[in-house]
Amino acid sequence: MKNSFLIRTAIAVCLFVYTFATLTKNYEISNGKLEILFKNWLDQSGREYNSFSEYQQRMIVFKENYILIQKMNEIYGHDMTFELNKFADLTQDEFRNTILMRPQAPPMHSPKKYMKVSEIGDLPDSFDWRDHNAVTPVKDQGSVGTCWAFSTVQNVEGQWFMKSKILTNLSVEQVVDCDGMQKVDSAQADCGVYGGWPFLSFQYLKQQGGIVSEDLYPYCAGAKKPCEPCNAPGYNKTLCGPPIPFCYMKDSCESKLNPSEFVPGLKVVDWKAISEDETAIATALMTTGPLSVALNAEMLQFYHKGIFNPIFCNPKNLDHAVLLVGWGVEGSKPYWIVKNSWGVAWGEHGYFRILRGKGVCGINTQVTTAVLG
Ligand SMILES: *[C@@H]1O[C@H](CO)[C@@H](O)[C@H](O)[C@H]1NC(C)=O
Ligand SMILES: *[C@@H]1O[C@H](CO)[C@@H](O)[C@H](O)[C@H]1NC(C)=O
Repeated sequence: MKNSFLIRTAIAVCLFVYTFATLTKNYEISNGKLEILFKNWLDQSGREYNSFSEYQQRMIVFKENYILIQKMNEIYGHDMTFELNKFADLTQDEFRNTILMRPQAPPMHSPKKYMKVSEIGDLPDSFDWRDHNAVTPVKDQGSVGTCWAFSTVQNVEGQWFMKSKILTNLSVEQVVDCDGMQKVDSAQADCGVYGGWPFLSFQYLKQQGGIVSEDLYPYCAGAKKPCEPCNAPGYNKTLCGPPIPFCYMKDSCESKLNPSEFVPGLKVVDWKAISEDETAIATALMTTGPLSVALNAEMLQFYHKGIFNPIFCNPKNLDHAVLLVGWGVEGSKPYWIVKNSWGVAWGEHGYFRILRGKGVCGINTQVTTAVLG
């Protein structure tokens, strides 16, 4: 099993390197053209730098990304395209280290945690929870690794909608600030801006006894003028890394969380995992609501549109958590519809589509949902 994966990976890497090496077009760009392109991008993105040397250094990164994107579009253009989006001045390493989480293998859960998904006959060709008004608008996590909290909270928003028929933005910041859950035996932990796991957050929400609305406890960790909360109670330095060196008590969970403000009636009482079978996942999605999923998102940085299916994407390196909201078919290609937390200007209005049925990038390996009481 492991060996065959390694062999397939090796073949994929060779193919990929070969494909890149055989690209014939020259994507060099003159300095004049580059500067115009970069200035336009700065205007659009509203990015500002502190010094001229930073400006110059970012322009070099931007140029490298420009060339990389042209090449990726030559290779993949018929299925998916890439663009100079809001991440265009970040190197791939910077993107991975700040926006994504440290890659980890999908957590295994005990057999009793898995949902019993009963077959419901033929599934429709397409299904989308957005058509049922069960999905809140796309959010933006900013330049910190809080995707896991967005994935968790948006799943709970869906579960709350299924139960109450009320669609509410719930507080992601509460989870970022207050959730210090850990599973020591498998070395997983919730680490605020340094990453976390939805299955642990569901346990945090159960233990906490409720969640506040976004209005009462707004997101600020990744905002333009970010808040500086201290680490969550229970923050594990061994698993999460050194705590934030400087923080404000007034920005922290202890000061901001007020249980009397919890959304009345909303109680997380349990959580469930769903098997890797993508038909079972579709059934669970349709019958229970939008699901929390995770994937290897290394190649997602410059995604523009289309059905995401990179040649090389290790499904065991999960580094991003998102929300599965639907599926469909384009031509002969089945896809999932996934809500991201990188703002509406990213991807397909804040969403992306990814090939369905082949375990692409591990999208089927960490499917979980909260259970409300
Ligand atoms: C949720 O927040 C967004 C802004 O991010 C707002 O436009 C929307 O009206 C809010 N409420 C619901 C129910 O989506
Ligand atoms: C933090 O995690 C380490 C490694 O898994 C574990 O040995 C330790 O007991 C944890 N610390 C606390 C305070 O729970």
